[in-house]
Amino acid sequence: MASNICLYLLFSYITTILHFITLAQSDNYIIHMDLSAMPKVFSNQHMWYHSILSQVTTTNKNLNATSSKIIYTYSNAMNGFSANLSPQDHESLKNSPGYVSSIPDLPLKLDTTHTPQFLGLNPYKGAWPASEYGKDIIVGLIDSGVWPESESFKDDGMTEIPSKWKGKLCQFDNSDHSSFCNKKLIGARYFNKGFLETYPDFHSPNTNTTRDVVDGHGTHTSTTAAGSKVDGASFFGYANGTATGIASMSRVAMYKAIWGSEKEPVGISSDIIAAVDAALSDGVDVLSMSIGYDNIALYDDAVAITTFAAMEKGIFVSTSAGNGGPSFQSLHNGAPWVINVAAGTSDREFHGNLTLGNGVSLTGLSSYRGNFSATNIPVVFKDRCENFQEVIPFKNKIVVCEDKNESVVSSQVSNVFLAGAVGGVFISNVPQQYLSHLLKNPVPAIFINKKDGEIVKDYIQKNSNSSKIQNMSFMITVFGAKPSPKVDSYSSRGPSYSCPYVLKPDITAPGTSILAAWPSKVPVFLGTEDYNNFNVLTGTSMSCPHVAGVAALLKGAHPDWSPAAIRSAMMTTSDILDNTKQPIKDIGNDNKDATPLALGAGHVNPNRALDPGLVYDAGVQDYVNLLCALNFTQQNITAITRSSSNDCSKPSLDLNYPSFITFVEAGNTSVRTTREFHRTVTNVGEGKSTYVASITPIKGFNISVIPDKLVFNEKNMKLSFKLKIEGEKVTKKNEVSFGYLTWNDGKHVVRSPIVVSTPKFDL
Ligand SMILES: *[C@@H]1O[C@H](CO)[C@@H](O)[C@H](O)[C@H]1NC(C)=O
Ligand SMILES: *[C@@H]1O[C@H](CO)[C@@H](O)[C@H](O)[C@H]1NC(C)=O
Ligand SMILES: *[C@@H]1O[C@H](CO)[C@@H](O)[C@H](O)[C@H]1NC(C)=O
Ligand SMILES: *[C@@H]1O[C@H](CO)[C@@H](O)[C@H](O)[C@H]1NC(C)=O
Ligand SMILES: *[C@@H]1O[C@H](CO)[C@@H](O)[C@H](O)[C@H]1NC(C)=O
Ligand SMILES: *[C@@H]1O[C@H](CO)[C@@H](O)[C@H](O)[C@H]1NC(C)=O
Ligand SMILES: *[C@@H]1O[C@H](CO)[C@@H](O)[C@H](O)[C@H]1NC(C)=O
Ligand SMILES: *[C@@H]1O[C@H](CO)[C@@H](O)[C@H](O)[C@H]1NC(C)=O
Ligand SMILES: *[C@@H]1O[C@H](CO)[C@@H](O)[C@H](O)[C@H]1NC(C)=O
Ligand SMILES: *[C@@H]1O[C@H](CO)[C@@H](O)[C@H](O)[C@H]1NC(C)=O
Ligand SMILES: *[C@@H]1O[C@H](CO)[C@@H](O)[C@H](O)[C@H]1NC(C)=O
Ligand SMILES: *[C@@H]1O[C@H](CO)[C@@H](O)[C@H](O)[C@H]1NC(C)=O
Repeated sequence: MASNICLYLLFSYITTILHFITLAQSDNYIIHMDLSAMPKVFSNQHMWYHSILSQVTTTNKNLNATSSKIIYTYSNAMNGFSANLSPQDHESLKNSPGYVSSIPDLPLKLDTTHTPQFLGLNPYKGAWPASEYGKDIIVGLIDSGVWPESESFKDDGMTEIPSKWKGKLCQFDNSDHSSFCNKKLIGARYFNKGFLETYPDFHSPNTNTTRDVVDGHGTHTSTTAAGSKVDGASFFGYANGTATGIASMSRVAMYKAIWGSEKEPVGISSDIIAAVDAALSDGVDVLSMSIGYDNIALYDDAVAITTFAAMEKGIFVSTSAGNGGPSFQSLHNGAPWVINVAAGTSDREFHGNLTLGNGVSLTGLSSYRGNFSATNIPVVFKDRCENFQEVIPFKNKIVVCEDKNESVVSSQVSNVFLAGAVGGVFISNVPQQYLSHLLKNPVPAIFINKKDGEIVKDYIQKNSNSSKIQNMSFMITVFGAKPSPKVDSYSSRGPSYSCPYVLKPDITAPGTSILAAWPSKVPVFLGTEDYNNFNVLTGTSMSCPHVAGVAALLKGAHPDWSPAAIRSAMMTTSDILDNTKQPIKDIGNDNKDATPLALGAGHVNPNRALDPGLVYDAGVQDYVNLLCALNFTQQNITAITRSSSNDCSKPSLDLNYPSFITFVEAGNTSVRTTREFHRTVTNVGEGKSTYVASITPIKGFNISVIPDKLVFNEKNMKLSFKLKIEGEKVTKKNEVSFGYLTWNDGKHVVRSPIVVSTPKFDL
C-alpha cells in the first residue's frame, strides 16, 4: 500500500535528507568550551571564542584558513560556539586552551479543539481555573515558525505581558519589532545561519523571517499548546467547533530553526542550539520541542545538551518520542531531564451515514469532504471487489465490498471508483492513515464494521436488483468513540537508545488527527492547492505540545514546582484505563494492552496532575550522578553540564524517577536476579497523610516495597523507600513484563510503572 506509506510520511513529519541541495566542502561543528579557562582579558565569552578561532586560522598560514568562520556563539544553552571549519583548523582548535570537545553539526527530524475536553479540562473545576488558563506562563517552541495572522494568536482579553519576559525581538518579513507580536504571540525569532552554511545552494526569499511559510508545523504545534479560543473552526466540515489550545491564556514565543520545504523540512544542530540559547535568555517557562535525533549519544544530541541547561534554569521541556513505531527502541529524546511524549488517539471520529432503501440508517468512518447529492442509487455487493472485468455496470451505482484482509482496502477503493461508481461502502476495519489519505483525495466512501456489513449484505440479498441506497451524508463528527484513547502504531517505543536505565516514553497524549491552526498560504495537503486556516495532523509532534500546555497549567498553579516535580505529577496521576474501563490498548501491537514501553506511565490527566499527593523530585546533581554512572568521560559530561568540575563521587543509575525498568538476560538457565531501586518522595499534598504501597504483580517475579507505609507529618516532608525485584523466571527475547507500584492515602493515587524486560530487542 504505497499510498499509505506516503501519507504516513506526510502526516507524521518524517523526513529524509534534502535532495535539492548540495553540501558545503568544509564542515560545521559545535565546539564545547570550558568557561573557567577563559583569560581575564576577555570581557565576555563571545570575544574569547572569536579570538580563539582567529588564532587557529592564522597558525595554518599555508592552508586556506580564512574559510573557517564562526556561525554562532552560545552562552545559555551551552558554553561554546558553532563554526564552519576546515579539517586542519578543526584539528588545531583541539589544542586551544579551554577546548572540551566537538560534535558535527547534524540535521534532525521534525517529527480543535476537542482534545482539551477529551483530557477532562473544563472552566469550572481543575487545572483551567486553578491556573487561570496558564496566564503568566510563557511557552517557547523550537519549530518551523508561526503564521502571526492566525486567529489563534489574537490576544483579546489577555493581561499585560509578564515583566519577567526579556525577549525584544519579533522578526517577520525582514523587519524587527514587528507589529505582528501582541500579548499572545510575545516573541518571534529565526535561526538560519547553520542551515544556510550547510546548504549554501538553498535560495528562498523567505529565509529572514519567523513566518511559517514552508510547512505549517510550528503554527500547528504552538496553537495546540497555547492557542487562543477560536469559534467556528473546522476542517472542510469535519471537527467543527471552537478551537482552543491547552493553556489558552499562556503566551507563545516562537524560535524558528526548521527550514527547507514542506516535503523535506530540516533542522540543524547549530541553529537548534542558538534557538534554545535565545529562549533561555528571553525567559520562557516551558519549552516544546517536537524534534529529535535518532540513535545518538546524549553528549552528541543538541536537544539533550541544551535541555540540560533549561532544566537547570527550572524550565520544563516537553519532547516528542518520534514516529518510528511500533518497533522497540525506536524512541528518540531519551534524556532523563526532559519529558518524552508518546501519541494516542482521541474519542473523536469522522463519519458518513447511509440510509438503505428499507429506511435503515447506518454510520461508519469517512473523510469525504465533497458535496454528495445523489438519491435512491442502485447498490450492488461485489465481495472482495477484485479484478472487475467490466466498467460500465457500476456507473451510477454504489458498490459494497468486503475485505477479508485489511491491507486490500486501498485497492478496493481504487477499483470501485475507477469502475465509475458514484459511491462505495467498505466492510473493513480501515486504518486511520488511510482515512487521512482519502481526505486529501476525496471519494464518497464509507467504512462500516462487520456487524453493519451483515445488515447491508442481507438487505441486498433480499431485494436483489431493486436494492437501493436512499441517501449518503458526510462531514459528521462523532464523539465518544470506544475504546479510546489507544496508543497509535506510529508512536515510537522504548527503551531509550541513549539511556535505557530510565524508562521512556514517560507519558502519552493525543497525537492522532489533531485540529489546530494552519498558515492560510500553505496548502493543507502537500502537492495540492487546498487552503484552510486549520489543519488536521497526526504524529508525536502533536502530542508533545499537549503536554507542554498541561505543564503551563501546572506551572501556573504551582510556580514553585521543579521540572521533575511537574513531570512526576503528570506521570503518577495519568490514566492507564480507557473509556471502557479496560487497560489502554496498543494499535501497533494488535490492540493488545499497551506496555509502558509504548504508553509510558499512562495517558495524561491534567486535573488529577494538579493534586498528585506525592512527587519524585530530582535536581542537577541527581542527573550528574546518572551521567557519571553511564561511564562517560569527564569531557562528555562537561559537554552536557557545561561545568568542568562534575562531582562523580556518587555515580548511580538509580535516578529518583517515578518509574522503574530493569533488564534480565533471556536464556534457559535459571539465573536468580535481584534489583533494588531507591526512591524519595515529597509530600506536596496538604498536611499529614499516611500512604500505603500496593503492587500489581509481575508473573515470575517477587516485588517488595520497604517500608510499605509512609507517614508524612507535614507538607514538603520527604520520605524514602526501597523497591526490590527478585525472580528466577527467564524472559523470552522481546518480552515486556510489567506491573505497577501504587501509593495510596485514601485521597491520592500515586502510580508508577515497573518494567522487566530483556536488554536486547530484535529490531
Ligand atoms: C584559497 O581560496 C581561494 C579562493 O577561494 C582559492 O583561489 C585558492 O586556490 C585557495 N588556496 C588554497 C591553498 O587552497
Ligand atoms: C537575509 O539576511 C542576510 C543577513 O542579513 C542577508 O545577507 C541576506 O541577503 C538576506 N536574505 C534575503 C533573502 O533577504
Ligand atoms: C458542527 O456541524 C454540525 C452539522 O452542521 C452541527 O450539527 C453541529 O452543531 C456543529 N458542531 C458545533 C460544535 O458547532
Ligand atoms: C447518522 O447515523 C447514526 C446511526 O444510524 C444516527 O444516530 C445519527 O443521527 C446520524 N447522523 C446524521 C447527521 O444523520
Ligand atoms: C459544495 O457546495 C457548496 C455550496 O454550494 C460550495 O460552496 C462548495 O464549493 C461545494 N464543494 C465542493 C467540493 O464542490
Ligand atoms: C493480506 O494481504 C497482504 C498483501 O496482499 C498479504 O501479504 C497477506 O498475506 C494477506 N493476509 C491474509 C491474512 O490474507
Ligand atoms: C438482475 O439484473 C441482471 C442483470 O441486468 C439480470 O440478468 C437478472 O435477471 C436480474 N435479476 C432479477 C431477479 O431481476
Ligand atoms: C440526506 O441525508 C441528510 C442527512 O441526514 C439530509 O440532511 C438530507 O436532506 C438527505 N437528503 C435527501 C435527498 O434525502
Ligand atoms: C560502567 O563501568 C563499570 C566498570 O567497568 C561497569 O561495571 C558498569 O556496568 C558500566 N556501566 C554502564 C552503564 O555501562
Ligand atoms: C566523548 O568522549 C569521547 C572519548 O573520550 C571523545 O572522543 C568525544 O569527543 C567526546 N564527545 C563529547 C561531545 O564530549
Ligand atoms: C529456551 O528454550 C525454548 C524451548 O526449547 C526455546 O524455544 C527458546 O528459544 C529458548 N530461549 C532462549 C532465550 O534461548
Ligand atoms: C517469591 O517469594 C516466595 C516466598 O518467599 C518464594 O517461595 C518464591 O520462590 C519467590 N519467587 C520468586 C520468583 O523469586
